[in-house]
Order: sequence, then structure tokens, then C-alpha cells
Amino acid sequence: MRILQFCRRSFLLVAAILVYQQSEAQSIALTVDAGKPGAPIQSTMWGIFFEDINFAADGGIYAELVKNRSFEFDEPLMGWEDASQGGAKGAVLITNESATRPANPRYAHIAWNAEQGLYTLINEGFKGMGIRKDIRYNFSVWARTPNEAVKLKIELLNANGTAIGGTTLSVAGNDWKKYTASFTATATEAKAKLRITFEGKGAVDADMISLFPNDTWKNRPGGLRADLVQWLADLKPGFIRFPGGCIVEGRDLTNRYQWKKTVGNVEDRELIINRWNTEFKHRSAPDYFQSFGLGFFEYFQLAEDIGAEPLPIINCGMACQFNSSEVVPLDQLDPYLQDALDLIEFANGSTDTQWGKLRASMGHPAPFNMKMMGVGNEQWGEQYIDRLKVFTKVLKEKHPEIKLITSVGPFSGGELFDYLNPELRSMHVDFIDEHYYRAPEWFLKNANRYDKYDRSGPKIFAGEYAGHTERKVQPENKNNWESALAEAAFMTGLERNADIVYMASYAPLFAHVEGWQWTPDLIWFDNLRSFGTPNYYVQKLFSTNKGTNILSVTSANEALSGKNGLYASAVLDGTTKEVIIKVVNTNEKETAVDILVSGAKKASAAGILSVLKSAGAEDINTLDDPFHIKPVEQSISLKGKKLQTVLPAASVSVIRLKAL
Ligand code: AHR
Repeated sequence: MRILQFCRRSFLLVAAILVYQQSEAQSIALTVDAGKPGAPIQSTMWGIFFEDINFAADGGIYAELVKNRSFEFDEPLMGWEDASQGGAKGAVLITNESATRPANPRYAHIAWNAEQGLYTLINEGFKGMGIRKDIRYNFSVWARTPNEAVKLKIELLNANGTAIGGTTLSVAGNDWKKYTASFTATATEAKAKLRITFEGKGAVDADMISLFPNDTWKNRPGGLRADLVQWLADLKPGFIRFPGGCIVEGRDLTNRYQWKKTVGNVEDRELIINRWNTEFKHRSAPDYFQSFGLGFFEYFQLAEDIGAEPLPIINCGMACQFNSSEVVPLDQLDPYLQDALDLIEFANGSTDTQWGKLRASMGHPAPFNMKMMGVGNEQWGEQYIDRLKVFTKVLKEKHPEIKLITSVGPFSGGELFDYLNPELRSMHVDFIDEHYYRAPEWFLKNANRYDKYDRSGPKIFAGEYAGHTERKVQPENKNNWESALAEAAFMTGLERNADIVYMASYAPLFAHVEGWQWTPDLIWFDNLRSFGTPNYYVQKLFSTNKGTNILSVTSANEALSGKNGLYASAVLDGTTKEVIIKVVNTNEKETAVDILVSGAKKASAAGILSVLKSAGAEDINTLDDPFHIKPVEQSISLKGKKLQTVLPAASVSVIRLKAL
């Protein structure tokens, strides 16, 4: 059954028959020319694409456990529940002070009489709260009380309602102040809740009710989930694109991403609805908002932490063209342009400048050294070219050092692409951002896409791609082995053409198993666990074996891009003096290959072979079986400059060997 499914793509079937005949006869000869290192491979070659979709930020990598901490959701008490018992009375009055607190206007006025029973509020977290035994949890609240000091009891409850850790806190005085308290959890629980018990009789104004684990990434207070960041760090990505995606554009312009509202004190960042809240009716998420606790400062800091070049994308006066398609009139683009210029100042400006000073006040006086910026996300049509021209003129005049990424629309071909591609080339833009969410067969057939591209034109950024096993944005799409194998084959073509393909990123990056809107995604998680998909391990094999220069790898004097079901690319790592060969075998049979490392004076007798493979096209990794498909390393021996090996059926093999 599995084999039948695997063969359902006719392209693979034909390739399989061909190789079956071939392998009966002889092994396939490949020649890697190690003597003529080709174009350099950019340090940015393999990167990551972060968008707050699928609860990637709030409820995901941003480690805040309290949902709707500032009562700014459309329904101000969403996520909160009055769970009082035993005759205690109390009420929450949502107060809106937009005149004096425009960014965070609402707070809760809580008044109670609990001389009998318990007056409590419970926060349910994002799909519950993931709590770990023996980890410290930091609670905080901005509060004031008009009357006498009041006492709050803070507790975590497990799924049965039993306390698994807590503390108490006193609020005194009528001035707003941040109160903090911490405690250690006594048990692990994936679906915990936070209970606040208001003791005695009293009243309090409360805002930004927050709970974070202590063990965030780099132990930063109010930081990121360390286990999730580790997946990114392990990829050693060349760049991180942020904050998206369609989220840059917004469903309409008021809903667009405005970076200035995401920096500074966290309590002053204006929450907005997440555009993915309502995008897909079949996966709607009424509780999906953007608190911007993960804002532009944190994105730049994350980029620095994981050694990736920061690549922010800014709105160019256009809302998502799949939604409202709103545009800003050409003569009213100034605020948008100013946002772009100020972003460069925020990232790179000296601490004497307005935005550089803010960066310093947030804890990073040194510049972030941003070198690239995207103008618009998946924009298309004349309206984009008109706006892009305005942005390019101003940005190139004032900041020629910043490379600009431009959009060639949401598709890899067709009318929108065919209009924009020549337009962008005639403008001599720096980068063209191509997106392909396509079927696995498309990736196989297009592995040679860039072999014949214009070498003198703009560089290519493969900014969003993923093999969609069903159709684009279908809930049935799976991160299965078939999709990962096809992406690997395609990536050999990106690598072979690294003289013009400077950057590539799979998309989207993260998905909560209970909260996703879009599938497939690279890394999946719940409140406590996470796993890398087979597609993740394909990305990792390429990004951690990037090399420094392209090498030619041929079979019968031709680049290997589908012939006999094989796809190959090779690179030299000039620093380690290694030749790295990647061969993707899409056949359902193992395939013998003879690899000759020509041009090298000497090759080492042993090398390392990493193999990623699976028996079934439908095979996947899951939270319960996270390493079902993962690379396995073994050593290999060479005879002189020749390596004879057998590529397992449906496999990605990466061979590293010293060659001088
Ligand atoms: O990656 C998900 C979405 O796909 C992105 O937001 C958008 O750019 C593309 O259409």
C-alpha cells in the first residue's frame, strides 16, 4: 500500500522504472570536479522565514503564558473566567482610558467581597499553559488599589484543578506600579491554568497580568521559549526574514504590521488582531491577536543570537491583495517611507539618533548591522511597481548600502509573475523574491529552474516554498517524506545555481498542533513538546553543509537533475577543505553510484555520509514519534579518489570528505 502510494506520481514511476533497468546493469557514475571551485556560496544561502501564523508568536515562541494579559482582545475578558466559590462576590469592570493610555487603553477594575468563600479569576492560557516541574515561574501585574492594601494568591492549577505551585502578592497604594512574585512548579502539566484569588474585601485596578517561565532562551525575562529557539539555532540559518508574510500587509491597511508599535516598553505596545484570526473559516482562531511582546527589537536580537542576518519586510502602502487590496495614494506614502528610513536608523543608527537611542535604551547600544530589507510581501500589478519605484528612489538615495528585496507576486509563474519579472529586471532591483507552494512533482520538474536564468540580472531570493501534498492551503497537506524528498531535489538546483540564488527559506516556520491555520509547516509544537518535520531535516542537511563555493557534479557530462531519478549538487568548504556532495535518490529502489572526486590531488580515505530516508512517501514525524525520520551518520571509505556507495531508495545523502 505504502509503495503504491509512493508511486502514485507518474513522474516518480517513470524515473523508478528507468533506474530499475539501470541498476540491474551498472552503477551510475558521477564526477565531482574539486579542482575548479566555482562561484562563492553566500553566507545567507539557507535561512528561515518567521511569521506569526499558526500561533507561532503569542502562544508559541513568545513564552508568555497568560492569554489576553492586558484585556485588549475584542472581547475584553476572553481567556478569563470567574470561578468564585462559597458565596464570595466580586465583579470585573473593564475600564477604557484611551485618552491617556492610547496604546493600552483597557484595564480591569476588580472589586470583591470574599469574607466568605473565594473570589477568583482563572486564565486559561493559550490552549492551556505548559508548565514544567522544578522550573521557576515569574508572575507580574501592573496594579494599584484605591483603598487598603490587598492580597492576591497566585496559583497554577493542573488539569484536575489541583494547585501545582503558587505564591502571594500584596498590592498597596494608588499609583500604577509593576508587582512581581515568583514560585517553583511542583509538577509538569501541559494544560495548566493560572488562578488568582482575591482575599478579604477590596478593589484593585490590574493590567498586564503576566506569567513567564524563568528558563527562557538565554534566560531573558519576558523572553522566548528556549526549546523552540533551539530548533532555529540548530539550523545555523544564514538569515531570518520577519515578520512575514501576509502579516506585513494586513487584511487592510489599519491591520498592517507597524514596527514602531512593537518596540519600547512591552506594556506600551498596541495589541491588534492577528490577520490569521479570521482568514480561514475552517481553521478560524477567535483568540488570535498580536501582543507584540515579540516585536522588532526581539526579532533583531533573535537574529543576532542565532547568527542570522536580519531581513525585515516592510509595508509599502499596500494591504494584502488576496483581501482588501487597499493601497495608499502615491502622494501620501511619506509615513510609510519614513517608517522604512526610521527602521534603518533603529537597526543601524548611532545612539545619538532618535531610533538608535531607543534601541540602546532597550539594551542594545551596538547596531544590529542590518544589510537587507524587503519592500512589500506578495505584492503584484502596476500598483506595486508604482510604489516600489518611490521606495527604491528614496531608499537607494539615502541608504545605498541596504539591499532591497522586491516581490514578484505570490506565484512562481503565470500572468502576475510574467508582468512583474521583466519590470523588476528593467528596474535593476537587487533581489527578486519568488514563492512556490507547489506539489512535490513541481519541485522535481523544476529542480533545473535556475540553470538557464539570466546570470547578469537581479539575484534570487526563494523567499517562501514548501511541497504541498494536496493543494495550496488545504488542511490535509502533510509534512510527509514525499514532500521533503521533492524539496531536497529542488534544493540541489538552488545550490547548483548559488551564483544567482543568494537566499532561500521554507515557509511557514512554526505551527501549534492545536492552533494552526496553514499546513505544512517546518516545526510543530504543543505547550511542552516540539518536533522537526522531515522537511526540517532536509533544511538542516543543506544549511549545515553549506560550503563556500559551488563545485560541478555531472553524470555523463551533464548536471544531474532528474536523470535516472537522481538529483545532485556539490560544494567545496574552503575553510575545512572538504568536498560536500548531496545526492537525492527519488527512486523506489536503491541505486548504486560511483563518485569520482576529480581535480583534487588527494582525497582522504574516509568520509562521513549522512542519510535521511524513509520507506513510505506518507511517513511523518509526530510529537509522539519525533525522530521517525532523521539523518543517520555513518563513515565511508574511498578507494583513491573514488567512492562506491549505494543510495537507499527515496533518500537524501550528504557526503563529506577531505580533498586537497
Ligand atoms: O507562509 C504563509 C503565507 O503564504 C504568507 O503569509 C504569504 O506570504 C504566503 O501567501
